[in-house]
Amino acid sequence: MSEKEEKNNKLTIEDMATFCKKKGFIFRAAEIYGGLSGFFDFGPLGVELKNNIKDLYWKNFVSKRDDIIGQDGSIITNPKVWKASGHVDSFGDLVLTTKKTKTKIRADHFIEDTLNIPADGMKADEINRLIKEKNLKYNGEDFEDIKDFNLMFSTHVGADTTKNSLCYLRPETCQSIFPNFKLLSETSRLKLPFGIAQIGKAFRNEISPRDFIFRCREFEQMEMEYFYNPETKCELLNEEILNRKFKFLSAKNQESGKEEMEEISINEIIKRGIINDYHGYWLSTFFNWLNKNIGLDYEHLRVREHVKTELSHYSSGTVDIDYKFNFGFKEILGLANRGNFDLTQHQKFSKSKLEFFDDTSKKKFLPNVIEPSLGVERLFMAVIYEAYNYDEKRKNVVLKFKPKIAPVKVAVLPLMNKEELIKPAKEIVEILRDYDLNVIIDKSGSIGKRYARYDEIGVPFCITIDYETIENGEKKDTITIRDRNTTEQKRFKINEIGNEIISMIKEKKSF
Ligand code: GLY
Repeated sequence: MSEKEEKNNKLTIEDMATFCKKKGFIFRAAEIYGGLSGFFDFGPLGVELKNNIKDLYWKNFVSKRDDIIGQDGSIITNPKVWKASGHVDSFGDLVLTTKKTKTKIRADHFIEDTLNIPADGMKADEINRLIKEKNLKYNGEDFEDIKDFNLMFSTHVGADTTKNSLCYLRPETCQSIFPNFKLLSETSRLKLPFGIAQIGKAFRNEISPRDFIFRCREFEQMEMEYFYNPETKCELLNEEILNRKFKFLSAKNQESGKEEMEEISINEIIKRGIINDYHGYWLSTFFNWLNKNIGLDYEHLRVREHVKTELSHYSSGTVDIDYKFNFGFKEILGLANRGNFDLTQHQKFSKSKLEFFDDTSKKKFLPNVIEPSLGVERLFMAVIYEAYNYDEKRKNVVLKFKPKIAPVKVAVLPLMNKEELIKPAKEIVEILRDYDLNVIIDKSGSIGKRYARYDEIGVPFCITIDYETIENGEKKDTITIRDRNTTEQKRFKINEIGNEIISMIKEKKSF
């Protein structure tokens, strides 16, 4: 391992949190009051980065496709939605309470941390047995009886605060897609297969939020429900999609206590019957998007099949795409086969007909659904970890974001803090802003210090305005652009920089 890799690998989650706070990406909500566990505020760079990630998702999966539409559902909705979806009865974690201090801890995490075994989805009986058998305590304290804890935040709507007005903050964004499914398919005149996507906030009253923004109580999701007729084949598949490979950790291996991965293709995972063809299409498409568009290294990604005990109540099969953080592989995207569970439930509870009519078989049926679900904060964190590089030569951190994701695209730097250089610098800022680019102008400090400042926050291009820009000569009306990754500099004509930079951001041209 090189020295640089070693330094990056030593970046603990606490180091990352400190870095993100110092640079204005993310910090605890209301820091001056000591924060509130599981809640975070995004600073100026954080909000730009987050918006860029969401924008890329929306453009790629909604704007550029004929078969997917968007919606923006309300955060609080009729509570019958959550009864029908199963969240009122089945959306909980097991909680352990210590006898003396009444400390509450999430039971499966306690087992995982104490015994170093996977415990996601472990039942109460099994946890009780392990606690008894191994005489487990928390800080020397025994436990009360294990309890189920529902993760939904509840509130009251209106002045009535009795149980009649009880409502919930949504624990997943996608659920509001199902009750709207029939209406939207009719108003948008959609034919199966089609998808409905949504980006928005979701809330879970996590027992123990942890790992910085990895497990928060308020977070954002980018979710899509892709509806299809289970009697039809997925026509979206082609050779390229089927041949894509990834590292795969099967449920079988996990069940026998092995963490061994194999490299297999989408074709192979479908052939083995682990997922169906629609599920395979979306796995391949999202894996490729994370790798090629978002820029997460292939070696840092794996696909993990859920073991039966950890499947959500609505899922008949789930595969996650995990990112290799310094603290291990963690889920950033879940791909669940929800079958027709949700539409069946909503049809039953609402008594509205949600069926589709199949022209070929002349039968009515409820479509099945594949759900790719992404946590924005988790992806955000993977993007920063991926970008984070300590450059030994520069003795500085360089965030190597893909230019399209970078929160600030260009820093415009007049070589000296002199009016004759500041004036053209301001004109360049205007030109670039006309291209909708996020641009910073900075006049203070040595040029070396300024380059370091912008490398550290991942600005892909620095533009320097020097005396050759303004003096008569062959370089008049030209500037230099410096590439963040290589520090290489090239001269460009001012009237060409907008198009040049846009081409580089869109990866149509390299530096
Ligand atoms: N919709 C899946 C989830 O929120 O986990």
